[in-house]
Amino acid sequence: MNLLFQKRREFFQKIAKNAGPTFGTQQIVITHFLPDRPELLEALDQISPIALLVAIPYSITSDVLDELKKRYNVATPSLSQLRDEQYMLDLIASLLESNPTVRFVFNEMGGYIAPLLNRLHTQFGSQIAGCVEGGQSGHMQYEKMRPLPYPVISTARSTLKEGDDTVMGPSCYYSADRLVGALGILLVQRRALVVGYGRVGRGVAFCLQENGCTALVYDTNPIRNYVAHGDGMFIPDRLEALKNCDIIFGCTGVTSVGGDDFDLLADGCFLVSCSSQDIEFDLQTLHTQFHQENILPNVDRFTSKKTKKKLYLLAGGTPINLLEGAYFGPELTLAQGELITALKQVFTEKTIGELAELANDQRKEIAENWMTIFIDPTTGAQLC
Ligand SMILES: NC(=O)c1ccc[n+]([C@@H]2O[C@H](COP(=O)([O-])OP(=O)(O)OC[C@H]3O[C@@H](n4cnc5c(N)ncnc54)[C@H](O)[C@@H]3O)[C@@H](O)[C@H]2O)c1
Repeated sequence: MNLLFQKRREFFQKIAKNAGPTFGTQQIVITHFLPDRPELLEALDQISPIALLVAIPYSITSDVLDELKKRYNVATPSLSQLRDEQYMLDLIASLLESNPTVRFVFNEMGGYIAPLLNRLHTQFGSQIAGCVEGGQSGHMQYEKMRPLPYPVISTARSTLKEGDDTVMGPSCYYSADRLVGALGILLVQRRALVVGYGRVGRGVAFCLQENGCTALVYDTNPIRNYVAHGDGMFIPDRLEALKNCDIIFGCTGVTSVGGDDFDLLADGCFLVSCSSQDIEFDLQTLHTQFHQENILPNVDRFTSKKTKKKLYLLAGGTPINLLEGAYFGPELTLAQGELITALKQVFTEKTIGELAELANDQRKEIAENWMTIFIDPTTGAQLC
């Protein structure tokens, strides 16, 4: 049992009670089935009942799945079904058509609804009120669909997420170290390449550095490379970085390493995603030009049919930290609190065309509530 459970519940309930229910509405939620979700979903459900809860397939904790199935109408599609427009449209259409007087919102992590928006708009018009997106890669999917036909509130780039940047690194490092360690290899003193020096990448690079690895960084944005240099990281050019690493942590949210890149990598190089879905590494090239063997749970060895070079892919290329249920300390709770406020707001949000976000004052209020519940004002430490 996680000791934070009661405090998280208290925090989410406070935000949900302040917001109040939105009658005549329901929501379709697409999320990770991690141990931190039940109390968050409970609060979201009070604002707008959850008509359908869709599990993101690579992050399902079996206990959580069992628990949520008892409370909600749960769907467990495969990743290819989640990305299949027709499959998703059919799933959504049956729900909306059987509840014609209810207004629906989509509340998701990952942008799976984004490509469907225009077809949904043609078919259902104002029966859909809008969307809430909580993740960076989903944010990018909605950006691609501009002008957006519905209000979409994104919390992906919120200042309330800054606190959890620092915990992402240890969470990814721990999971990678555990899997690599099972093969008898220590991460310490390895040359680790972090691709993408944004929020996630910076946290991962700091953690690698603290654990004695040589942290190489490559980002397509030169300003981020400059920041990495200031942080004490090595910033070789892309080709040198790929040639001179033992393990790659992909933190971009796009396919950052693939095709001919695999020819450059050292024999035995490990590929670790810290981003979203299974997009960080070009799996198609691995599957067509390499021979695959599963050598341990969540460790696949790919041997090049051409050169016999071996590469190791962890967690099938999905985010490594989600294997362990991901760390969910009080920091992440703050960002989740914003999802509750965003859900309430999307029903009345006026911004259409562009992505919207909450105002700074709303975020300050959420942070103030968080402080009163999680922090001892005398010592400044986290309350247990
Ligand atoms: N595993 C988790 O638990 C977890 C948690 C939060 C976010 N994420 C995901 O991690 C990914 C990154 O999130 P973020 O908040 O750090 O995003 P971010 O936008 O802050 O950082 C991404 C960085 O990658 C760089 N980049 C983009 N394409 C690149 C390429 N081809 N090669 C090299 N660099 C490239 C960008 O310039 C940017 O600096 C997203 O997909 C996000 O959804 C995962």
